[in-house]
Amino acid sequence: MKENLQAIREKAMDLLNNVKELKRLDEIRVEFLGKKGELTKVLRGMKNLSPEERPAIGQLANNIREAIEEKIEEVKNELMKKEQEERLKSEVIDVTMPGKKRRLGHRHPMNLVVDEIKEIFLGMGYKIAEGPEIETEYYNFEALNIPKEHPARDEQDTFYINENFMLRTATSPIQVRVMEKEKPPIRIICPGKVYRSDEVDATHSPVFHQLEGLVVDKNITFADLKGALEVFAKELFGDKVKVRFRPHFFPFTEPSAEMDISCVACGGKGCNICKGSGWIEILGCGMVHPKVLKMAGIDPDIYTGFAFGMGLERLAMSKYGVKDLRLFVENDVRFLEQF
Ligand code: DAH
Repeated sequence: MKENLQAIREKAMDLLNNVKELKRLDEIRVEFLGKKGELTKVLRGMKNLSPEERPAIGQLANNIREAIEEKIEEVKNELMKKEQEERLKSEVIDVTMPGKKRRLGHRHPMNLVVDEIKEIFLGMGYKIAEGPEIETEYYNFEALNIPKEHPARDEQDTFYINENFMLRTATSPIQVRVMEKEKPPIRIICPGKVYRSDEVDATHSPVFHQLEGLVVDKNITFADLKGALEVFAKELFGDKVKVRFRPHFFPFTEPSAEMDISCVACGGKGCNICKGSGWIEILGCGMVHPKVLKMAGIDPDIYTGFAFGMGLERLAMSKYGVKDLRLFVENDVRFLEQF
């Protein structure tokens, strides 16, 4: 029995010396000291011993139990210490490590252009006006002197929601809404999204942005229009840019014109961007039609006004040399990063 006990002790110590995990430590405790443990089994066998043998073996068994318990406690403390050390080591922050560079977002080129144009016109005393993207027949067409048979009303060009409502095809309806509400002098610009049933290609999209301008006051002339728009072009494209006005037709202005700027790519010499002409068309404009003023409640015998409208994607394309407007909606960071 004595040898038996010594063997248990050795076995336990051997195991305990090699334990690496707290969990295993607990298993060992059960293996030796638990109810069905090896030492417990031996102690149960004591009843078969002679009374002379019993005290010495009992003593020995108790010593071994105490030794194993002590050893378990000791190993437990060691393991816990080690575990803590490892945790501390793994949680250490190395302040000398180089920082990670974060990829910053960029302002979208369309927003850059809109903001720049806003600044230019705000500097000339214009205010910003907005209007709904869902418009009525009246504001989108009727009040702009666009007659019933006009091709612009064609269902192939306009997204109709039902008989009465459509997605606005231009920012021009905002002019009318402002004139109905405000008395001259009026000086506004209206940026916004507009919708046309166009196929997508490098220069067309069913959703795009326009910016409308309107000035109404006494004695406003075509010279005021030319002056304001020339200042605008030079502010946006630089002092060297030249402008020219070509006669044109719009139902809501009379007379009407289109404004070209000298090509920003070649400076007017002629290249593939301006198709050899040296000029790029950037906006439509004209003197507000007396009928349009009258319908909106402004007396055309007292007041005159000018208006203009421009497509912002095209403008941004000229300004930044972008060849395909689809790039504006693809959200490719490699594109956006360049602005
Ligand atoms: N509404 C025109 C378009 O969508 C742009 C335009 C031209 C607006 C002349 C105007 C203007 O206010 O006077 O093409």
